[in-house]
Amino acid sequence: MADPLDFADPFWGQSSEESNTTDVSQNWSYTSTPTKLTLSGKDLASKSTTSSAFKSIPYLSNQVDSFPDNWREYIFPDPDRDGSSLSEDELVSVSELKVVGQGTIAVKTTASKSIEFLVSQKSQDQKNSFPKLCLKITQTEAFFTKKTKDGEIRFPKEDVIWTRPEASQYIPSPSPPSGTVYWFSIDRSNSLLRYGKYYTSNAMTLREMKLKPESTKWFVGFNVVEVKTDNDRNPKVTTSRLPVTMDLPPLVVTNEAVSLRDLDLARMTTWANLPDACQTLYHNIAGKNIGFDAEVGFKNIADAIHNSVTTKGCWAYEKLQEKWKRKDPEHPAPKKLENQYLRITIGSNRGNSPGIPYVMEVWPPGHKSPIHDHGNACAVIRVLSGTIQCSYYDTLVSNVKPKLLGQPIELDKDQITWLGENQYQIHALENIRSRTCITLQCYQFPKEDELHEEIFRFFDDSSEEQTNFHPDSDCTFTEFYDIMLKEWNAKSLSKPSSK
Ligand SMILES: [Fe+2]
Repeated sequence: MADPLDFADPFWGQSSEESNTTDVSQNWSYTSTPTKLTLSGKDLASKSTTSSAFKSIPYLSNQVDSFPDNWREYIFPDPDRDGSSLSEDELVSVSELKVVGQGTIAVKTTASKSIEFLVSQKSQDQKNSFPKLCLKITQTEAFFTKKTKDGEIRFPKEDVIWTRPEASQYIPSPSPPSGTVYWFSIDRSNSLLRYGKYYTSNAMTLREMKLKPESTKWFVGFNVVEVKTDNDRNPKVTTSRLPVTMDLPPLVVTNEAVSLRDLDLARMTTWANLPDACQTLYHNIAGKNIGFDAEVGFKNIADAIHNSVTTKGCWAYEKLQEKWKRKDPEHPAPKKLENQYLRITIGSNRGNSPGIPYVMEVWPPGHKSPIHDHGNACAVIRVLSGTIQCSYYDTLVSNVKPKLLGQPIELDKDQITWLGENQYQIHALENIRSRTCITLQCYQFPKEDELHEEIFRFFDDSSEEQTNFHPDSDCTFTEFYDIMLKEWNAKSLSKPSSK
């Protein structure tokens, strides 16, 4: 089995140099239209052999930071340099890296001026253990430095192969009261330092620096992390064994469906690479009998649902109208008709998911969900009929418009996608076709989740507020099936017979 870390992330596309080379690469390039996912690599077998190893992050600028000749003038300390340097008695959290010299450190904090990640050799006097590898984030800057007894210097240009910056990467002011996650990834194998916000995934990288391997030797044995924050007495620091590298692709297939070329181009992933909770969900819904083709007693169920959704007086049409007009403070649904869709629940809540874990969702033509998260749960989604468009976003914070990451993708019938705690967690689904789309959503909390927060949060376009949504049920699957069958039979009987 391939190591997931070997996957590049096709969701983020090819670099600009690669994007014009082949039809295959264009599948993942940034176009104005949604990206179509390919279920089987068979039809692409004769095309490009372009390697996808290590692609750039698309929303980062390709501009390479130029180090000024007088870079030594960046020498610290100068406590008033940006008005946000940390003083000696700043609040410090100390933790250990699980693997020496590599990993991801994340802090959730309400810091409003400055955050420092300091990594050094374990010592009896950690505060004075030098040198330290440092990531410093302020309201206006984020940068990597080497801290010594005498001060602090940015990496000299002769140590750096490239860096990639991005705007708006700093500490917001004011900081959201619930805190923001900032992370520092040390990738020893690839000589890469990364900084990001919100979720610890490659898509959330805001700054990265590729060093010459020989320039990393001074910190490969470091194993202790100090995190300093201003104005936050309770920052939550976590460390992961692995650095942030490439994200997994959104399309999931069986091991029988994946080819060497698929792996090379990272167009899809096998289920075995997913988080444990996604693997369980995948096995429950990937079978050939999950879907409408197996419902031999009612072959036209997808047609019946489309008819019910689009015909005034039919159950689904009227249910959508009712949901749109409903005033229920416990269920503050978005106020637009086009944001309504049906949630048909399958089975019962077993206490391990936000709401009932299996939900069939019905998306009329032109309808879409608001931008929402999934309570940090894992999920697997299978398209049962039609086509759905998925768009991914960076964060849900009131008064901050979520940022679209990459380009939307499209999933067709029987294609399966996933989302995890740290990847694809915030998305919006939309049916941009003229045919009703039906999807099967499956949710499960990861084992590590001790909160089991049974809410999704969505971004209300009109108020620009983050709002809670309690997953509910419009109907059980068995009841829905019976209603659709009854309506379809009535429609068939009402048709004039042909001679
Ligand atoms: Fe969702």
